[in-house]
Amino acid sequence: MTGLHHMLVHFPLAFWALATLLTLVASLSSGYWAELSRKALLPLLILSLLGAAAAIVSGLLVWPIEANTHSPMTRNHILISYWSVAIYTLLTILIWRGGSSAFSGCKRWVLVILALIGSVLFAISGTLGGHLAGAPTLVSTLLGLLGWNVYSTLYVPDWTLIAVILIGIGCLLVGWKTKQQ
Ligand code: HEM
Repeated sequence: MTGLHHMLVHFPLAFWALATLLTLVASLSSGYWAELSRKALLPLLILSLLGAAAAIVSGLLVWPIEANTHSPMTRNHILISYWSVAIYTLLTILIWRGGSSAFSGCKRWVLVILALIGSVLFAISGTLGGHLAGAPTLVSTLLGLLGWNVYSTLYVPDWTLIAVILIGIGCLLVGWKTKQQ
C-alpha cells in the first residue's frame, strides 16, 4: 500500500514545479509564451490541487495517524505539505478571480512571490518524504546548515504567527479600501 502514496505524490509535485515555471513566464515576460502560460495555469493548478488531495488522502489512509504523528520528521513532512497546498490554493484563487489582470502591474509580483515560496515549500516536503522513505538528499543537509535539524519538530516562534496574522489583516484592509475606490 505504501507504493500508492509514493506514486500519487508525483502528481502535485510535478504540477507545482510546472506551475511555478509558468507563473514566472506568465508574469515576467510578454508575447506568445506568456499568453500560452497564462491560459494553461488555471487548469494546471486545479489538477495540482486534485493531485495534492489524492496525496493527502493516501498519506492518511496508508499509515495509522498515531504512527504519523509520533515521528517529528513525519509531522514536519505533513505540516510542510499542508503549507504547500495552502500557498498553491491561494495562487489558484488569485489567478481564477483575477484572470489576465492578475498578471498586470504590481499584482504580478504577488504571484511570483507566492510561486517561489510554494516551490521552496514543496521541495522541502518532498525532501522530508524521501528522507522518511530512506533516501535523504543534500537538501536536508542544507536545511541543517540553515539551523533546522529535520529530525526534530519544526517550531515557529509565537511572534512569527502574530506577524502573519497582522500581515493578513493588513492585506484584507488594503483589499477592502481598494475595492471601495
Ligand atoms: C501534498 C501532500 C504530500 C506530498 C506532496 C507528499 C510527498 C511525499 C514524497 C515525495 C514522499 C517520498 C516518496 C518516495 O520516496 O517515493 C513521501 C513519503 C511519505 N509521506 Fe508524504 N506527501 C504528502 C502528504 C502526506 C501526508 C498527509 C502524510 C501522512 C498523513 C504523508 C506521509 C508520508 C510518509 C509516512 C512517507 C514515508 C513513506 C515510507 O516510509 O516509505 N505524506 N511523501
